[in-house]
Amino acid sequence: MNIGDSNISSQVLLHRHLLGLSTYSVEEIFLILETAREFREILERPIKRVPTLRGFTIVNLFFEPSTRTRISFELAAKRLSADLVNFGGSGSSLSKGETLRDTAQNIEAMKVDMAIIRHSSPGAAHFLTRCIQGSVINAGDGAHEHPTQALLDLLTISEHYDRFENLRVSIIGDIAHSRVARSNIFALTTLGAQVTLCGPQTLIPVSIEQLGVRVTHRLDEALEDCQVAMTLRIQQERFGASLVPSLREYNALYGLTSEHMEIHQDLIVLHPGPVNRGVELDDEVVEHERAVILDQVTNGVAVRMAVMYLLASSRATDRD
Ligand code: CP
Repeated sequence: MNIGDSNISSQVLLHRHLLGLSTYSVEEIFLILETAREFREILERPIKRVPTLRGFTIVNLFFEPSTRTRISFELAAKRLSADLVNFGGSGSSLSKGETLRDTAQNIEAMKVDMAIIRHSSPGAAHFLTRCIQGSVINAGDGAHEHPTQALLDLLTISEHYDRFENLRVSIIGDIAHSRVARSNIFALTTLGAQVTLCGPQTLIPVSIEQLGVRVTHRLDEALEDCQVAMTLRIQQERFGASLVPSLREYNALYGLTSEHMEIHQDLIVLHPGPVNRGVELDDEVVEHERAVILDQVTNGVAVRMAVMYLLASSRATDRD
């Protein structure tokens, strides 16, 4: 498959889908990041479009709210000259009781080449692979995985630190309900980073140390010698009855402040969005020069272009 006027790598992924990062190797993760860097350069040009996926049809299936991920996938597809169709739960026949399987089979009958899915059920993206022939990209399935978010986080980190081996990354907040945390834990530990999880006991799964991470309930311990603070949104919509006494108390114990930024001069701060200002991060931290939240969003388009391109190439070379 030709990339247009760029000299992007001719290597291909071994995977046909991107459902999660637990099965992706160091080489595959680095291939995606390297490819994304090349697309990032294309996105800086006056004309930000390449003909790579011309004639390719992609469907964006979002059954949960999204700002960044949905728009980013749409832009990524358009930058690659693919045809993209957006489809959401409330405006579809799902609201009339049609099942996900029947919906998927109807989409398959319309001959799409690739499907992107966000769904509240863990495993929804895996399920879709059994209904359609094309590649499937998981854009977030319940609290399971959000692999493109982790990849864009890695790309953003790599703009500040030149290695992942022994990089000290603390993931702070609602780990229990976070697909972003799970995908990042898989990818960061695969790349050799030292990952610490920090949050209240109620928001950290029991035995999560088995994934090769350290756990602390104290923010000062998590930030000591830390190079990357990956802060997470408190997802009250997922845990219903509150697992933290109050958001004010959460902020007092786990919220990042300008004082933290002053003490930890090497620290960069990530957040997948949407940010609860005054809960996970004070306003001064959101606006801080070492908060890279909008860089994450910019990198999201390049990463998603890379994933679409590489999965399409993997199909074209007929690998399994
Ligand atoms: N980071 C992220 O998944 O944001 P959205 O929910 O807005 O897509």
